[in-house]
Amino acid sequence: MHILITYMSHTGNTKKVAEAIFDEIASGKEIKRFFEVTGTGGYDFIFEGFPIHAFGPPDQAKDFMKEFLKGKKAALFITHAAHEDLPELQQWLDRSKEAAGGAELLGTFNCQGELSEEIAEFMLDSGDPDLVAYAKNRSLTLGQPDADRLQKARDFARKIAAKLERYG
Ligand SMILES: Cc1cc2nc3c(=O)[nH]c(=O)nc-3n(C[C@H](O)[C@H](O)[C@H](O)COP(=O)(O)O)c2cc1C
Repeated sequence: MHILITYMSHTGNTKKVAEAIFDEIASGKEIKRFFEVTGTGGYDFIFEGFPIHAFGPPDQAKDFMKEFLKGKKAALFITHAAHEDLPELQQWLDRSKEAAGGAELLGTFNCQGELSEEIAEFMLDSGDPDLVAYAKNRSLTLGQPDADRLQKARDFARKIAAKLERYG
């Protein structure tokens, strides 16, 4: 079984989750940034990770899905500044899953990540009331994803690996 863990990450949150997932996979694994991937034909399974940008998946993540995820068995891992309990989050995750519609998705993991100061400033200037509200709550995101959230990412990877073993 060849498994690819691939991701984009500007401030390191999604990278942390990618590395936690990578650590949990026993063997036959590679970890790469999107731009390092030239093809996915040689992989049996792909974990694709990205941050939420403006209430959905960033263009780079959608482009990757279109080019490399069609017809593949895959799982998504997503970070965002919002708390996991935020009701609107479900919509953002649904948009992400829809964008990956060409893949056979075995699961989706999401967790809160720290909102960097730079991005918070950008959000404060955006004029979008929701983004401004997230930026104002930046202090609540500091230190995320923490050890508990990274453990949840590992549990997710283990469950997906068990599914793959069972169903091939
Ligand atoms: C342009 C932009 C838009 C963002 N929009 C959202 C958003 O709509 N909701 C949210 O919860 N976080 C939003 N964020 C915050 C990131 O999703 C969050 O900080 C994420 O963990 C960053 O991951 P990274 O460190 O892997 O890049 C946005 C960040 C950027 C740069």
